[in-house]
Amino acid sequence: MHTMKGLMMKAVLLLSIMSFYSFCSGASNSSNKIGVNYGRLGNNLPSPFESIQLLLSMKAGHVKLYDADPEVLKLLSDTDLHVTIMVTNQEISMIASNESHADAWIDDNVLAHYPSTKIRFILVGNEVFSYNDRQLWLDLVPAMRRIKRSLNKHQIHNIKVGTPLAMDALESTFPPSSARFRSSIPAEVIVPLMRFLNSTKSFFFVDVYTYFPWSVNPTNTSLDYALMKSGINETYKDPVSGLTYTNLLDQMLDSVHFAMQKLGFNNVRVAIAETGWPHDGDFDEPGANAYNAATYVSNLVAKVTSDPPIGTPAKPGIEIPTFVFSLYDENQKPGPGTERHWGLLSNTGSPIYEVDLTGTSHENNTKLSEPSNNGPYNGKIWCVVASTASPDDLGPALEFACRQGNGTCDQLAPGKECYEPISIVSHASYAFSSFWAQFRSAGASCYFGGLAVQTITDPGHGSCEFPSVLL
Ligand SMILES: *[C@@H]1O[C@H](CO)[C@@H](O)[C@H](O)[C@H]1NC(C)=O
Ligand SMILES: *[C@@H]1O[C@H](CO)[C@@H](O)[C@H](O)[C@H]1NC(C)=O
Ligand SMILES: *[C@@H]1O[C@H](CO)[C@@H](O)[C@H](O)[C@H]1NC(C)=O
Ligand SMILES: *[C@@H]1O[C@H](CO)[C@@H](O)[C@H](O)[C@H]1NC(C)=O
Ligand SMILES: *[C@@H]1O[C@H](CO)[C@@H](O)[C@H](O)[C@H]1NC(C)=O
Ligand SMILES: *[C@@H]1O[C@H](CO)[C@@H](O)[C@H](O)[C@H]1NC(C)=O
Ligand SMILES: *[C@@H]1O[C@H](CO)[C@@H](O)[C@H](O)[C@H]1NC(C)=O
Repeated sequence: MHTMKGLMMKAVLLLSIMSFYSFCSGASNSSNKIGVNYGRLGNNLPSPFESIQLLLSMKAGHVKLYDADPEVLKLLSDTDLHVTIMVTNQEISMIASNESHADAWIDDNVLAHYPSTKIRFILVGNEVFSYNDRQLWLDLVPAMRRIKRSLNKHQIHNIKVGTPLAMDALESTFPPSSARFRSSIPAEVIVPLMRFLNSTKSFFFVDVYTYFPWSVNPTNTSLDYALMKSGINETYKDPVSGLTYTNLLDQMLDSVHFAMQKLGFNNVRVAIAETGWPHDGDFDEPGANAYNAATYVSNLVAKVTSDPPIGTPAKPGIEIPTFVFSLYDENQKPGPGTERHWGLLSNTGSPIYEVDLTGTSHENNTKLSEPSNNGPYNGKIWCVVASTASPDDLGPALEFACRQGNGTCDQLAPGKECYEPISIVSHASYAFSSFWAQFRSAGASCYFGGLAVQTITDPGHGSCEFPSVLL
């Protein structure tokens, strides 16, 4: 028994050493270097050439694209950056349906650039289980298999195939030992996925943000625990596993480990496809500031670039390939304010806060002022026309807002309290506030495609009172 166990331990060790080397693929230098997500949902971003120069000057080791853009891949061939490309969700079913489509995808997006462009991961789809599209779920693993088979046909063995999932792939993540995959994801999808990742020695890629669970309930979880501050006194002991946690990221990563273990897959390693902290956001989004973002990212980098690797309480000593989200603030991401403020760099390419991606210098926030928005906001918030919005664009948004809910724009009718001033900006601000006050609890953002922003300055005038959200 002991010998068997010893042998198995050695096999496991060998396995992890082998996958460690395949992650580095010869260049021991980029092994535990940090990766950066190069998202491009902005209309004001630096060119791909400048962006790659910036990634190099920041000493990133890996870059992850959300597609397989030929211009970007061509430019990357002049660098040592290791590259992750993605098959978009729209391409999955086509690739799953027909092997020649997978072959064509590999011809166009890999063979055209590899090996001079150091492509190391192909991620198939993005957060597929976050969309309620059963056909897409069923097509995911067949598409991954076809992509892998096409690579094999060309004897390409140092590109791994995975799929990044959001934490909503799990239910009951707390305590970590109780975690399991969401029961709405059929076994006929999740088990083959695990089998594929296990047999190809790939990674379970997860998008993991401590910011979200913390910000939903900022008074319940300690901010230091979410920011991975060292030397904090708050720890959490999982009553079932007996493991002690000193930060929320480990807790979330181990919930993934335990969910995989429940399906019988103990050795599939976790990689972080996205993580980060927003440096700005709306009034109702606590903790979104540069001070916290700098703290989180430095602590993250120190953890995941550490040599020897630290791992997590359930998987100590295991390296966790990690991509920070994101290179830039992306001004065309919809949703709440934080969505447009995940960048390490502003849209001009200048750093929003200082961060050393090599992990050699530790967190240093002395140049940043202490944040004032770490607690929940208490007071009224309105939703008004953004100063950057063009009045010409407001018509459709105003009409849309007024059509929703009950009596949303009654006060704007001739003779009513808010009829005057008769200006589209004034009327749209009222409509946005009235709409948002009714639908925020149902998940609506104060955004309207960039036409609206939150304000804590009462826009009401005279006897015209604007509806507000009271926090
Ligand atoms: C690693 O980097 C050092 C300098 O940064 C360089 O001298 C060395 O050749 C590199 N090693 C590999 C394997 O790339
Ligand atoms: C797959 O696609 C190719 C090229 O589009 C086509 O010639 C072939 O008939 C397809 N095979 C199947 C099984 O649909
Ligand atoms: C995982 O892969 C290993 C090695 O390829 C294999 O021995 C093991 O049975 C696989 N685990 C499962 C649960 O399929
Ligand atoms: C606070 O967090 C604990 C876990 O840390 C959880 O069990 C509890 O339900 C949370 N309370 C609220 C009000 O969310
Ligand atoms: C942790 O607790 C110890 C003893 O209770 C105390 O001396 C120390 O200051 C605390 N550290 C922090 C960071 O709160
Ligand atoms: C942090 O930065 C400030 C200003 O650049 C410097 O004076 C200080 O020594 C640094 N502290 C650490 C611990 O590196
Ligand atoms: C509008 O009013 C109707 C009838 O009073 C009610 O059933 C419905 O829920 C209301 N809708 C909203 C969005 O308040």
